[in-house]
Amino acid sequence: MTDQTSAAGRHTPSAVPAQPEILTPLLRDRESVMVYDRSHVLGPDALRAILEAARWSPSAGNSQPWGFIVGLRGDDTHAAMVEVLSSANQVWAPSASAIILTLHQVATDEDHEIAYSDYAMFDLGQAVAHITVQARSMGLQVRQFGGFDHRAATERFAVPPHWAVTTGIALGLPAGPDDDTEMPEWVRTRARLPRSRLPLEAFVHSGKFGHAADFLTD
Ligand SMILES: Cc1cc2nc3c(=O)[nH]c(=O)nc-3n(C[C@H](O)[C@H](O)[C@H](O)COP(=O)(O)O)c2cc1C
Repeated sequence: MTDQTSAAGRHTPSAVPAQPEILTPLLRDRESVMVYDRSHVLGPDALRAILEAARWSPSAGNSQPWGFIVGLRGDDTHAAMVEVLSSANQVWAPSASAIILTLHQVATDEDHEIAYSDYAMFDLGQAVAHITVQARSMGLQVRQFGGFDHRAATERFAVPPHWAVTTGIALGLPAGPDDDTEMPEWVRTRARLPRSRLPLEAFVHSGKFGHAADFLTD
């Protein structure tokens, strides 16, 4: 989305400042990176730390309804993931050190041992947010993506019916500012676009929905 496009029917004024100083640096410096250092290898300790962040995120009734399939650049899982990516995501995502497919539980399992929660996708989203922040604390970045063949991924990784393959995460060390020369022009351009956001007034309400919260306008 750019400044000029609409989200949920609302138009964003241009020049909305992003990444304000008030944010913790872990969030201020997070961005969805498209160009990664192809020589970076994600070691087992780092990978474990990142997945522990998901493990310790909150969930409804502590249901922990998330799952992750991890492919490391160079292994068979990674190669299989690259095959199911959208053609656009195939251009940039393989340069990341890891690709992770995320899953959330959509029904009670066959043995009724794991109860299904209506908040499963919400909880997965929080777990992924925790991954994002943990990765940032380690000097890494992620770009999440929905652009892949979900059905093909489900089949390839033998995902059982009570789980849904949901999103992907490319995770790695950002390349240097001029290290994108191997990328096609559209990636280089997109990777350098300024980031933009809706203003708080567009989505923080008080009194009734649609009324910008008073503390924003006082
Ligand atoms: C659920 C989800 C799906 C996304 N799908 C894609 C995708 O398929 N390809 C892509 O390049 N980026 C994708 N993105 C990245 C977004 O475009 C990006 O987060 C957004 O432009 C905001 O940029 P920022 O994260 O740097 O602030 C996705 C992000 C999310 C959370």
